[in-house]
Amino acid sequence: MSDIQPVLDYLKTNQQRFVAELCDYIRFPSVSAQPQHRGDLQACAEWVIAQARSIGLETRLCPSAGNPIVLAKTPRLGNGKPKPHYLVYGHYDVQPPEPFELWKTPPFEPRIEGRSLFGRGSCDNKGQNLAHLKAVEAYLKTGSELPCDLTFVIEGEEEVGSKSLATFLEKHQAELECDGIVISDTGMPTRDHPALTYALRGIAAFEITLHGPNRDLHSGVFGGTVDNPAMALCEILAKLRDKNGRVAIPGFYDDVKKLSAFERKEFARLPFKEKEYRNFLGVPKLFGERGFSALEQRAARPTLEINGLTSGYQGEGSKTIVPAYARVKITTRLVPDQHPDKIIKLFRKHLQKLCPPTVRMEIVSGHGAEPYLVPPTSPGAAAALRAIQLGFGKKPVLMREGGSIPIVNQFKRILGVDALLIGLALPDDNAHSPNEKFDLDCFAKGQLMAAHLWQELGRL
Ligand code: BES
Ligand code: MN
Repeated sequence: MSDIQPVLDYLKTNQQRFVAELCDYIRFPSVSAQPQHRGDLQACAEWVIAQARSIGLETRLCPSAGNPIVLAKTPRLGNGKPKPHYLVYGHYDVQPPEPFELWKTPPFEPRIEGRSLFGRGSCDNKGQNLAHLKAVEAYLKTGSELPCDLTFVIEGEEEVGSKSLATFLEKHQAELECDGIVISDTGMPTRDHPALTYALRGIAAFEITLHGPNRDLHSGVFGGTVDNPAMALCEILAKLRDKNGRVAIPGFYDDVKKLSAFERKEFARLPFKEKEYRNFLGVPKLFGERGFSALEQRAARPTLEINGLTSGYQGEGSKTIVPAYARVKITTRLVPDQHPDKIIKLFRKHLQKLCPPTVRMEIVSGHGAEPYLVPPTSPGAAAALRAIQLGFGKKPVLMREGGSIPIVNQFKRILGVDALLIGLALPDDNAHSPNEKFDLDCFAKGQLMAAHLWQELGRL
């Protein structure tokens, strides 16, 4: 058995430098949703390449139709018996930082306060994928033998649906053949409850525009004779959920798999305090689908959310108009066995039925991803649980997550392997929100976990 102590010692003594490097990583405004940041995504990918090369990996920056994909491999020694091969997936793109005014300090100027490192992308996902790179650095720089061959795949389009990566996986299927995928891009319920996630929700995205008059009109001169697209949109949107908190699209729940008694019991065991949760989110009362606990609602039940809503004049003071259009961005979160394509069809049909004849409706469907669920009973899952226990010094919990990682089902379809989802983010890390942060203890423990993981997986 190889001795892992030098690896762990190396990680311990180099934390300060690692944090400084994470700050450099965060400084790139690699916002994949916004076309003006194309150059920043390219530069960020080049930074990851340089980082991977400096720790001793063989790197390739692979151009794609969208943002480049970083490929980095541990040196294949080619002597001795073949090792298991794992892909480590992560993303260097980040969500839009807006609204800027709610950030205590600018989103791409990293700031450390106590054990928190603030900055857009700090936890989702730069800090988490850097933790894996650092664990491998520790092996390579201490001359410790890595029990597994590793290939890092770090992409720049996760936050917009991972389109280019799916194509890339198909093209490089042979080269990427592997025993499993490891992803740290999820969360854990509390600092004391590190987690292995075994399910993710899927997603389907829509942008709906109601077109009214051919220009903004004087609301005194014309109001009362033409429909107001903002009013019409509100009426439609209000019909999309019922009083039990269910999505009111006919057929929406048809394919939803019932939660087993076992799963409901497991959910009930997870740490959760309703009052704390409510205070943490600042709402007067929780809301959700009747008949399910909050944890079930956010991880195992489908939802429909308005992500953005706009129409008419938004500036200061008043402007008396009937707006020319109203627009809404909507995503639905999907659970097994719902399919985005089917949901998109159902939703389109229903919207058309709800649309009054006084406006013209335009529907654009955006990215979609299938839900993911794999029972955590494999030898790989058991190895991951041991590594989490060793890295965090706490017994891990098993959980389902409400977020989506579009590529996990493509890994399964194209490479035929499942993903081990070992998240390092905390609920109050503000992923996708202003003042996103990453906990530096989670960063350090995540590195330890990753170092142990290759031992545990190498032993299978
Ligand atoms: N890291 C998240 C996914 C996540 C977060 C999973 C928390 C579980 C718990 C990922 O970067 C993400 O945000 N994905 C997007 C995908 C979408 C834009 C297609 C999401 O879930 O909104
Ligand atoms: Mn994200």
